[in-house]
Amino acid sequence: MPAQDPNRVIIFDTTLRDGEQSPGATMNLSEKIRMARQLDLLGVDVIEAGFAAASPGDAEAVAAIAAEVDKASICSLARTVIADIDKAAEALRNARRSRLHIFLATSALHMEHKLNKTPDQVLRMIEEGVRHAASCSDDVEFSCEDASRTDLDFMVQACRIAVANGAGTLNIPDTVGYALPEEFAARVAYLKARIDPGVVISVHCHNDLGLAVANTLAAFCAGARQAEVTVGGIGERAGNAALEEVIMAITVRRNYFGLTHGIDTRQIYPSARRLSRIIGQPLARNKPVVGENAFAHESGIHQAGVLKNPETYEIMTPESIGLPGNAIVMGKHSGKNAVRAKLESMGYQLEPGQIDLVLAAVKRLADKKKDIYDEDLEALVLEEIYRIADKYALVHLGVQSSDTGLPPTAILVLDVDGKRVQHAGFGVGPVDAVFQAIDHVTGHKPELEQYAVNAITGGADAQGEVTVRIREKGRSAVGRGSHPDVINASARAYLNALNRLSKAF
Ligand code: KIV
Ligand code: ZN
Repeated sequence: MPAQDPNRVIIFDTTLRDGEQSPGATMNLSEKIRMARQLDLLGVDVIEAGFAAASPGDAEAVAAIAAEVDKASICSLARTVIADIDKAAEALRNARRSRLHIFLATSALHMEHKLNKTPDQVLRMIEEGVRHAASCSDDVEFSCEDASRTDLDFMVQACRIAVANGAGTLNIPDTVGYALPEEFAARVAYLKARIDPGVVISVHCHNDLGLAVANTLAAFCAGARQAEVTVGGIGERAGNAALEEVIMAITVRRNYFGLTHGIDTRQIYPSARRLSRIIGQPLARNKPVVGENAFAHESGIHQAGVLKNPETYEIMTPESIGLPGNAIVMGKHSGKNAVRAKLESMGYQLEPGQIDLVLAAVKRLADKKKDIYDEDLEALVLEEIYRIADKYALVHLGVQSSDTGLPPTAILVLDVDGKRVQHAGFGVGPVDAVFQAIDHVTGHKPELEQYAVNAITGGADAQGEVTVRIREKGRSAVGRGSHPDVINASARAYLNALNRLSKAF
């Protein structure tokens, strides 16, 4: 950990824990591993891979990521309870570097109404819990949950006990997104003045008032040297501080902050894109740094200025965040080595047989689409390699739209648990006809909550990427599908969502 340089901030990524906890962002094991690899490429210092005691699936994910990741330290969250700490330590056993992150609420409100404990009992739990964690790991972080609503002196007392028992990082979460920048900075400064200078102060800000990034930056100014962030700001309720915003703020305004970090900013856009693909949530167009409009100039005056000198209206370059300049990456004549090298540079380490599958898909796509970009290649990898073990798979699809005078009709052949089933169905439009036919064959009847089409890359021959969210019997699932034909992509997305719905995550 870069604790030696006083101006180096530690980036603690919690996309796979706090982020994954948010509605609609659930990931399966292989998706978590893929995202963890990307976070490692991005250069985060710590990856909070999950909450091992929360479920066997979480423990498995923490252990798998711990065994997989090369550079970042891998962390598991744990309540201040011995059994939780033991499960976290066990899941981290094979990590090259690891951290135990222990939390306990310290606000009067949480202690009384949630924990049903007196302040003295809470302090004793911190003492015992952190001491036990320090006997399992040489890197222990302690969080005062709901710190921003905790009595200041009680927070300092709790933190001192944590440090005395082996915590090297103290995290001050704004658990409910209540803090204001100036006030939050004063809290951090107050703690800093009363704690061993060798201890790293961390902040973890939620975005309920839209202030998560502002609070994080204010905390840096007050001496915090770790930020807990997520890609795209995903997280509980309104989310957490967005990694890309925090990093680009201290990068673009380095003269103001005087801080350094270990992030490769050119991996910011690929990371946001990968997360968006995995969780099936498109990036909002106006999202800072990574949204589609972040570098788009609509007004004539702005366009003219940017053409003369991009700095007139751009405070950072698209290249600096790794936004591809539409470089063509693959085509009909690409070979296996080129595909392997390109995929490796994108953080995908595939087996030779998997590379063959992707190469075949590249060639099929190249017959339909002239230029193949990074985004196309990534979509192919997701389609060919990482599609979850499917109960339902599309074999053939034929669609007739309504302009023939006949009702929109879909004829499809599905593979259902290895058996071919065919059906023809009608609908109010071609997509509806496809979904109705799929419902008939699978026996599902979900409510379609969201349907969105995106062009993966520009041009009329762009691959369409469809995202759907469906809900059935109180459970919802997001599905994603890509194909040059958007109706076909819709069928794949719908089946992907049904496959997710039929699995317990
Ligand atoms: O928001 C919060 O308080 C948390 C803690 C567990 C760090 O996520
Ligand atoms: Zn949180």
